[in-house]
Amino acid sequence: MRTLEKYVINGGAPLHGEVEISGAKNAAVAIIPAALLVDGVCRIENIPQISDTDMLLTILAELGAKVSFINRSTIEIDCSQARYQDAPYELMRKIRASYYLIGSMLGRFGSAKTTMPGGCNFGVRPIDQHIKGMTALGAEVDVRGGFVYADALGGRLHGARIYLDKVSVGATMNIMIAAVLASGRTIIENAAREPHIVDLANFLNSMGADVRGAGTDTIKVNGVDKLHGGTYTIIPDQIEAGTYMVAAAATGGEVLVKNVIPKHLECISAKLRETGTIVQEYEDSVLVKGASALRRVNIKTMPYPGFPTDMQPQMGALLCLARGTSVITEGIYDNRFKYVNELRKMGAEVQVDGRIAIIEGGHPLTGALVQACDLRAGAAMVIAGMVASGQTVVEDIHFIERGYENFVGKLQSLGADIEIVNFPEEPDGSEKILAIS
Ligand code: UD1
Repeated sequence: MRTLEKYVINGGAPLHGEVEISGAKNAAVAIIPAALLVDGVCRIENIPQISDTDMLLTILAELGAKVSFINRSTIEIDCSQARYQDAPYELMRKIRASYYLIGSMLGRFGSAKTTMPGGCNFGVRPIDQHIKGMTALGAEVDVRGGFVYADALGGRLHGARIYLDKVSVGATMNIMIAAVLASGRTIIENAAREPHIVDLANFLNSMGADVRGAGTDTIKVNGVDKLHGGTYTIIPDQIEAGTYMVAAAATGGEVLVKNVIPKHLECISAKLRETGTIVQEYEDSVLVKGASALRRVNIKTMPYPGFPTDMQPQMGALLCLARGTSVITEGIYDNRFKYVNELRKMGAEVQVDGRIAIIEGGHPLTGALVQACDLRAGAAMVIAGMVASGQTVVEDIHFIERGYENFVGKLQSLGADIEIVNFPEEPDGSEKILAIS
């Protein structure tokens, strides 16, 4: 009998202790495809063990890369025998970051065929800026039947000046990847500035690329003929760290979040302090101490260094506990408030109007059967479950496991009462509903 895994959480336990943050998902999911450009062995340290990186490593292996795990978080990728072929579409469709294969396959083979990317559904997520960039670099790009076909027309891509009409993390990184082995200089204007953009540039440079200006809104890539192997360590995950910080604040606990770059967390630390939470920064850790009463705050999500959209649902859960009215304005996506319906099942009072959510905080949350609508929404439901009275069951946890390494184990080590439970499916395919108290 097939089973469905869900998280079962008994709320009420404040989190206490220390948690070690893993490598950054959004850096790893670009660096793994970028390894295709390297002629030699890339040793990559601090790879997070999450399903998104597993899928990308499987895709690279299908393209002929040799992938070896040296230990839990260190891998070696040798793409010297990689060859052009159709990549596994079923896997590509599941992840957003498969769009980086357009840039890396074009750079390596002069040609790419990928599916339109998958990932979390926050409304329409076009890739027109990626296509604009690849076209400017000399590729012919065609989107039909759910596939993206890109072809450098038998030649090498060439440098170009590209102004992004929208600040896009994915387009900035994809163009960087494609431009590294192009002839001449590429200039990306109105580039995104997220920490993982700097990390990708540092990875590429450590393998022999010449990328300058990452972290500013103008990035210059001087094309080189070849990249060589090397060793690179991925930065800690800003959003994973932020999630544990919010979880500590929400449960009124005290958690030392270790292996972080506090500078990358400033936008999150600042908002938490406004709620009355104490955040102390150390060299590579932050200590978060929950307040006895949380204060309301307003949040607007923006590209880095603004408040990250990927922390919006977790903060939404936290603000349900703060007395008074908080307003969240989603500045990146059209539809990132689906999780609000799940919070309402737990007693939250939230109104949504387009890109704005108005949270009337201070109503007690009670356990319920809720869904993880997407990766970060799932983390928000776990946070809500840890503060609610009674038991919460979170369904569709595969979303959460796309982006959080050992989420349950880390939370348990902080004292949370959470476990993964296998719920049997009925023979007709429906699930058996187990009573939850
Ligand atoms: C990346 C992150 C995701 C995060 C987002 C914003 C990865 C794998 N995912 O997603 O977790 O939420 O950055 O920080 O790194 N847009 C266009 N045209 C494009 C590209 C984007 O209109 O060609 C729009 C998007 O619909 C969105 C905005 O630009 O409204 C920002 O998107 P973008 O920064 O590209 O996000 P992703 O790279 O998809």
